[in-house]
Amino acid sequence: MTTDQVQLPAIRVQGLEKSFKDLPVLRGVDFDVARGSIFALLGSNGAGKTTVVKILSTLLEADAGTAGVNGFDVATQAADVRESISLTGQFAAVDEILSGRENLVLVARLRHVADPGRIADDLLERFSLTDAAARKVSTYSGGMRRRLDIAMSLIGDPPVIFLDEPTTGLDPQARLEVWQAVEELAEHGTTVLLTTQYLEEAEQLADRIAILHEGRIIVNGTLAELEQLLPPATVEYVEKRPTLEDVFLAVVGADGKDGDAGNDAVPARKSRGQR
Ligand SMILES: Nc1ncnc2c1ncn2[C@@H]1O[C@H](COP(=O)(O)OP(=O)(O)OP(=O)(O)O)[C@@H](O)[C@H]1O
Ligand SMILES: [Mg+2]
Repeated sequence: MTTDQVQLPAIRVQGLEKSFKDLPVLRGVDFDVARGSIFALLGSNGAGKTTVVKILSTLLEADAGTAGVNGFDVATQAADVRESISLTGQFAAVDEILSGRENLVLVARLRHVADPGRIADDLLERFSLTDAAARKVSTYSGGMRRRLDIAMSLIGDPPVIFLDEPTTGLDPQARLEVWQAVEELAEHGTTVLLTTQYLEEAEQLADRIAILHEGRIIVNGTLAELEQLLPPATVEYVEKRPTLEDVFLAVVGADGKDGDAGNDAVPARKSRGQR
């Protein structure tokens, strides 16, 4: 690893722009992600979160701006970037017919790591799947699949991992299991960039949270910093701190989508009158 790689943040995005035909999606996106931290990218449907992840994982080219991952430029050093990352998309990419352990061994062989069996057993243990190791994945719950999917993405120890909506469609228990798995990653020093629609997920997991809106990052900070964007509301003499959801809706604007639809989706928040 060069000095540059040690000193640079794990991810650095500057002035990123991307349009699809005449639809501008990213209009100058800037953010850094520190090594070993968890960074959550929030945004409404269609905000461009997946577009950012695709550019960072070299699946899509930006129109303008620069993006570096693990010290490598996504445009000019794509192969080095790909060696540095793993990407877990929204739908679990596991093979149903194989057992959990067989899935892991298969990926370990494909990635040419030494001792695939041991790597598989270690990951099964780490993600609490040892008891289910020999069972076909078709018998796994949604949470178990997602955990296996994340475990598979860790083979070869990529320093940076992208999780695009890791818990969409999971029930609260399965979501908790995946959160634990993600926390595990950061404890091992992996840098995690996750996108999510669940504000609670960002509150629970992320060291820093950024909100992507109308093509730009409009807020970027720790949860405590984001909470300070809104004064505490007083309800019947009980001081209540704003939730991340309040901050999100205030900065995005409850009418951030079309017309009244955004308002109707969050009637309980209207009374806060913070906008
Ligand atoms: N290949 C493409 N061709 C044309 N338009 C695209 C393409 N990919 C994305 N878009 C458009 O770009 C916008 C951003 O899409 P993107 O998938 O990045 O949003 P997102 O924030 O991930 O949304 P979601 O929360 O629904 O996953 C959307 O309007 C989408 O329709
Ligand atoms: Mg998306």
